[in-house]
Formats: sequence, structure tokens, C-alpha cells
Amino acid sequence: MKLFPNVKGLLHGGDYNPEQWLDRPDILEEDIRLMKEAGMNTATLGVFSWAMYEPKEGEFHFEWLEAIINNLYENGIYTVLATPTGARPAWMDAAYQEVMRVAGNGVRNHHGVRHNHCMSSPIYREKTAVMDTKLAERFGNHPGVILWHISNEFGGECYCDLCQNKFRIWLKDRYHNDISELNKAWWTTFWSHNYTSFDQIEAPMPNGEMSVAGLRLDWRRFTTYNMTDFMKFEISVLRKNGNTIPVTTNFMRMYRGLDYEVMAKELDVIAWDSYPAWGNDEETLYRSSLDVAFDHSMMRSFLPGKPFMLMESTPSLVNWHPFNKLKRPGIHKLSSLQALANGSDTVQYFQWRKGRGSFEQYHGAVMDHLGRSDTRTYLEVKELGEILNKLEPLTGSVIKAETALLFDWNTRWAVEDLPGLSSLKKYDETCKEQYRILQKLGVETDVITPSVDFSGYKVLVAPMLYLLRQGLADRLKLFVDNGGILLCTYLTGYVDNSTLCYLGGFPGDGLMELFGLYAEEIDTLYPKDINGVSFEDTFLEEVAAAQVQYGSSYGRAIEKTAKITDFCEVLKVQDAEIIGNYTNDFYKGTPVVTRNHYGAGDAYYIGARLCESGMEAIYQAALATAGVTRVQMQEGVEFHRRTKDNKQFDFYMNETENEVTVVPAAGGRNLLNGEEAKDRLILQPFETAVLEHI
Ligand code: GLA
Ligand code: ZN
Repeated sequence: MKLFPNVKGLLHGGDYNPEQWLDRPDILEEDIRLMKEAGMNTATLGVFSWAMYEPKEGEFHFEWLEAIINNLYENGIYTVLATPTGARPAWMDAAYQEVMRVAGNGVRNHHGVRHNHCMSSPIYREKTAVMDTKLAERFGNHPGVILWHISNEFGGECYCDLCQNKFRIWLKDRYHNDISELNKAWWTTFWSHNYTSFDQIEAPMPNGEMSVAGLRLDWRRFTTYNMTDFMKFEISVLRKNGNTIPVTTNFMRMYRGLDYEVMAKELDVIAWDSYPAWGNDEETLYRSSLDVAFDHSMMRSFLPGKPFMLMESTPSLVNWHPFNKLKRPGIHKLSSLQALANGSDTVQYFQWRKGRGSFEQYHGAVMDHLGRSDTRTYLEVKELGEILNKLEPLTGSVIKAETALLFDWNTRWAVEDLPGLSSLKKYDETCKEQYRILQKLGVETDVITPSVDFSGYKVLVAPMLYLLRQGLADRLKLFVDNGGILLCTYLTGYVDNSTLCYLGGFPGDGLMELFGLYAEEIDTLYPKDINGVSFEDTFLEEVAAAQVQYGSSYGRAIEKTAKITDFCEVLKVQDAEIIGNYTNDFYKGTPVVTRNHYGAGDAYYIGARLCESGMEAIYQAALATAGVTRVQMQEGVEFHRRTKDNKQFDFYMNETENEVTVVPAAGGRNLLNGEEAKDRLILQPFETAVLEHI
């Protein structure tokens, strides 16, 4: 599905801050000329422009913006128009204290920086409404404006009285105005923490109540609710006059503080800002890329069936990593194409031109202080513009995955706050590792949140699904009953939606029946402790057969044993088939990996943190049973397939410094060089091929 019917092809553009250059008409003129020359067709305006729009309370100036939008439009460049609520003018903070956030220590912030408004402040909402109404009235029907960009990178928390009060109202609603219901949910009798009134409840502040997991989780949920409420408020204001321009906001990488599952539901388009540490000294480029692919996959999975937007990326370096390395020649092209390969229909930058001063003066931009268009960065951006033109047929195509990985903010938060066990909780890392293994096995994987319909998938991987929201266990059972293959691990189904442990055995809420077992104990290992799994020979034969089914070079040679670290559950198996047993310790010889046939499907249980090769063996078997499509992969080459109507676009990305030869899964014409690919595709270092196959 095409995101922007009026725009021909993919979007190429970025944050543009002409308000910093209004006294330099020569530069503004150059901007347009050079944007066009670089093949840019979009600019994001107004992200932090409040002080320019409203220099004094009630005095508005949009004429400069109108001139810029008109000029861009006349030159074939569309505008993504932001609301300026990501930062406030000084006059506002001076006049209305309440718009500034209060930190966790209870002290109100002073004026400064950005992304720090109070989401509850009636005055901030009032000021926002005035501003957004004016923007909508003036630009909501402009043919050059294609998208509203709500605020910027929503994040953080506010602990002011307004927010705490709203939290209490939210809790009253959640617990039906019944304080005993809340006390039960938070298990407050422990340490005599019972409340007798909602008025006694405070947010979990570092010098206050930090020991109640239920309170902490509800506070995070509330913060998401309140931020989303603010975002929805902005959307409703923009929409008031029947304005139908789609809305987005820019998400951040693996952001902890807000549940994007909730926020995404309010948006027409998903957009995110990607700033990986390309070229870092800890990992290969391929490894960095696989983790970025995970992020892209999560973004595209929020709104299935639609491409997402790479809203920001740097054409050269960033300014906020501990070390800010230049993208090496070719990496900008590769990383931009990687976003497209994973389902983006845009490549956008922060930013078009470097500002002369202040916090981001050394952040990479298309135009440097040098002011020349023959720089390496500019030329690479320009080359990318040409490439995006060639890739026009791709516009609106999407990725269809048969496998999904479940990622849940509630579980993430609950696991991180889980008191005790091992300090190596690693929820994010475990999910990413599973994604990497699947990717290397040639399996396209969506990263989904629990509210997504599972029925379209053949295989569902749900690592460390510690917290079960209401109804989730039943949906997992239904998925397997209908023929799906489910893989769960240690720490599954320990607590309910309030973080109360299930009684009668883990995994709870009926999942013991699904897996045919229960976990009697969970052991946590010291880093030097050793344990492992020894797979049953019959299972190893099955894995070998699976490898043959896909072709002998699919995946590594499987070994009898594989390493276990950090977490080991001692399982009591009732019905399930035992696939592997522990190799060490007092539970040596007892089951650690099992499979239960349930209805028409299989439910795998992996009771310990298994290393990559062990998981790979299990996936090999599971994928073969499910009949998942796999593509032959090779180390260092990332692959994705986008489809549209009867066309498919296969991306092969060489993420190594060496020339590689790949055997394409299907032939096709390489849209980047026009060559027909047959049984071999030779890729130069960092080269990408996009094979169009009709
Ligand atoms: C974020 C912000 C931008 C800019 C960039 C710099 O993505 O949205 O305003 O600060 O980071 O990397
Ligand atoms: Zn507040």
C-alpha cells in the first residue's frame, strides 16, 4: 500500500530548519537548488519552531513558513509538517511553571533542553491547541503538505502534582474505585504497604516506594497512557476541521519508557529514527545490521500491510554516541537500502544542513559548514537519490513473514523489575538473539506485540514471556491448536497482568496443559557455572532430515550437546516428548527441551537459556514441520523480500568488506544496475542488489 498517493516513488529528504537561516536568503536559495540536485522530494519542517511561530505569547508568525513550504512545493519537494511541541519557548516556561516537568526527585526542572513538557498540564495543552489549530488552518489544505509529524521523539516522565493526581484517577478507574482491589493486585500486605485510600498513592520515586512491582508497572503503563493521551490530543486538534492528512510521530530505537504497542495504534504511519553505531569496534558490520533489521522489523510490524518510514538517519556521523565515527564510504548507501529492504518507503535525514551553533553543530548533515556540494557526504546522498529513483517500482510493497517473534513491553518492564534471580535478565538481548538466529537460517521474521493476530503465522517464538496479559494464554493455545508451532522458554507465564505469581505451577494460566509440563524450580547460574543440553538421538535425526529438506548447506552441522547459561528450570514433564536433557548438576539427565503435540500444532518448551547452536537445532526442526519458506543464506549477506501485486523484490546486501558470490533464491533483474541475475550474483564489498522478479 502506497503511503502518499501524490508522491511519485520513495521519499528522500530530512529535517530542514530554514528558520535558523532566515537572514541568509542566499543559503535558503542554495538549499532548494542542492536538495533538488540530490534527488530530494521531501523536507520535514517545524520540528522545534515554536519560538519562531510565536515569539511572544499570542503573537504569531507563519509567513516565513508559508513562503518556504510554497517554494519547496513549486520545486517538487513535499513537506512533512511537525507540530512544535517537542520544545518550548522561554517565555512560556517563565510565565507558566507547570509546563515544565518535575523529575523523579520531586524537583521541578528549569527552562532548557527539549522533550520535557508535562503531559498533564492544562496550560500546555491549551497552548498546544492554539498552535496546532493555527497550523492546521493555515497548512492543512496545502497540496505540498503530506504528513503531520506530531511533536518529536516522545519520551520521559513527569512526577509533578498534576501527573501524580492523574495517575491516581487512572488507578481508580483501573481498580474500579476499590482500594482493596489495588492492594490485592500489588500484594501490599507484604511489608505493611497497604493503602486505605487512593490519595495515599505516589508515583514510584527513587526516594519513595520503589519496592512494589505492581506500582512500578502501573506507573509505566500510566506514563504511556498519559503521553499517548497528549499525542491523541494533538491529533484531535489537527483533525478538527476535517483535515485528513495522515499523522505520525517519530519512534526511537528499542525505547524503554513508552509502550509503542499502545502508541502505534493511534498513528496512520509508523516512522522511526535510526542511529546505530555503524563501524563500532565491538562487532562486525553484519552483526550491527542484524540488530538494526530487528528494529526495522518491529517498526514495520506495528502496522501490518503498510511500509514504514525511516524518518531520521545521519548521512555521516551522529553527535551523541560516546564515539562518533563517520560512515565509511558505501555505508550510507548500504544502511539506507537496508531500511528499504526491511520495509521502509523513505530515507530521511537529520538533517539537511548543519546549524552553526548549539548542541548539534557537529551532527552529520547533508550540507556541512563547508558549504560545498562536492563533499563525500553530499555526493553519496546524491547517489542515493539516483538509486531511490531506480527503485520507484518498490513503492508500497511489503514484507510477508511466516514467522513472528513476540516482543512485549509489559513483559520487558516486568522482567527488568523482577526482584532477584539472575542479574543477567537480558530480555531485549534474548529476543534480538532469536531474531538473528532466524535471520541466519533464512527465515523472514516479524517482530510483533501481543495484540497482533497470530493466525497468519506458521511459527511463533515468544522468548521469556514472563507476564501473561489477560487472554494471551488462550490465544497461544488456539494458535497451536490450529496447527501453529509455538516456541517458549524459561520464565514463561510466571505472573499475571498485575505481576502476581500464578499458583499451581508455571507456566501459568493454562499453559501447563499446552506444554504438558511444569517448572518445579528455577536455578540461576554464576557466569562460570557450566551446564548444557544433550539432545536425544531421534531428535538429531529429525534435525538432519530437516536440513536435507531445505538443502544440505542450510544451517550449521548440528551437535549432540549445546551450552546453557544463566537460567535453568527444573521441569516436571507430564505429556510432552523429551528432546533434550541437562548434562550437569543435580538435575543432570532431567528434561530441558520438550515438545508437546497439541491439537494440530506443536508447543516447544526450552527450559534454559540455550546457546545459538542449540536454538538453531530446535528452529531447524520447528521450521521444517511448519513448512516455513527459507532462503539459503550466507554469513555476512542480509536478505529480504518485498512483494507487491505479482512482483517480488529480493534484496541481497553484502555487509562485509569482501567480494561475495551468492546463489539467488529467484532470478530477476537487478534494479540498481539493470543486469539480469541468473544462478550467481557477485556482490562487491557493501554492495546491494535488488532483484525484481515478475
Ligand atoms: C533525534 C532527534 C533529532 C536530532 C537527532 C540527532 O533523532 O529527533 O532532533 O536531535 O536525534 O541524532
Ligand atoms: Zn506533570
